Amino acid sequence: MSLYAALRPLLFTLEAERAHRATIRALRLKPHGAPPVDDPRLASTVAGLRFPNPVGLAAGFDKDAQVPDAILSLGFGFAEVGTLTPFPQAGNPRPRLFRLVEDRAVINRMGFNNGGQAAAFERLLRRNERPGIVGVNIGANKDATDRIADYANGVRVMAGVARYLTVNISSPNTPGLRALQDRGALTELLAAVMEARPAGGPPVFLKVAPDLEPADIDDIAEIAGEYRLDGLIVSNTTISRPPLRSRHAQETGGLSGAPLRDLAARRLADFRRATGGTMPLIAAGGIASAEDAYARIRAGASLVQLYSALVYEGPGLARRINQGLAQLLERDGFASVAEAVGQG
Ligand code: FNR
Repeated sequence: MSLYAALRPLLFTLEAERAHRATIRALRLKPHGAPPVDDPRLASTVAGLRFPNPVGLAAGFDKDAQVPDAILSLGFGFAEVGTLTPFPQAGNPRPRLFRLVEDRAVINRMGFNNGGQAAAFERLLRRNERPGIVGVNIGANKDATDRIADYANGVRVMAGVARYLTVNISSPNTPGLRALQDRGALTELLAAVMEARPAGGPPVFLKVAPDLEPADIDDIAEIAGEYRLDGLIVSNTTISRPPLRSRHAQETGGLSGAPLRDLAARRLADFRRATGGTMPLIAAGGIASAEDAYARIRAGASLVQLYSALVYEGPGLARRINQGLAQLLERDGFASVAEAVGQG
């Protein structure tokens, strides 16, 4: 039994958000000496960045960029902080985070609680010279009168401290936000965002919802290509409710973890088809093992991200997935992750 498996019942006695805060506090104390897993078979270049391995931490865990280096030292190949909005905001009333233990899932309706971009900027500036890929995920304030301007400002402000930027228009917890995925709004948004990116600025990824119709997928792929986005993150949490056993199943919010896995995998395949393999895809949703990560890579993902599985599997997960991935690549005769991308 791992140390985490022994400690987990204790952590799970805490209300979910308190457990998360305790975890962030513990990570702040962690010395971050250990480098990310760096195996030449696992390293790849995506959107011009060299990733030491393809396993990243998804947005929402370190919203305020408090512990990116501690995360990297757990073996993650990259860490995405945020979502950060221009101004600090409190988010929704608590409780707003639920563990669905029997389902290996999480439901959250946090609502972009965060300390704002300026505070995170200062923190990221202090670690700017350190190695390791830290991406910044940006959003709009709930009460913004011009949401597109919030994204454009976010790009302008955070470009200096982000190795990549993620435009998050797929959170289900800010009313109306996901409407930015519609053709007209998305065109306007991406025009503004790409215009705001400073010359020589970081690559820009777009993070989409799994709850999309085939026509939406074609539209998003086409517009993303037109504006030369650097990648798509597929996907955020789902508002759908596949069959669940936990007593929290009916809570409002975005569902993540194991019950999202198949839906997110289908959407990845949809976007692979819609983009024809011309744009890097980053898979997220229910990834909990090397097999999950490998299946997503073979379905077209250049990189993967996870969050919910960390709650159930503990801090050794990224290293375990990377070790397993290296073995799976070897078993199937691939010399590198990049060779396996999209190989079906
Ligand atoms: C998230 N996620 C998320 N995504 C995002 O772009 N901005 C955010 O602020 C958050 N916040 C957030 C909070 C919590 C508690 C969870 C569980 C998730 C979504 C996350 O990045 C990821 O896309 C999904 O959770 C799917 O991956 P997993 O969790 O199934 O591995």
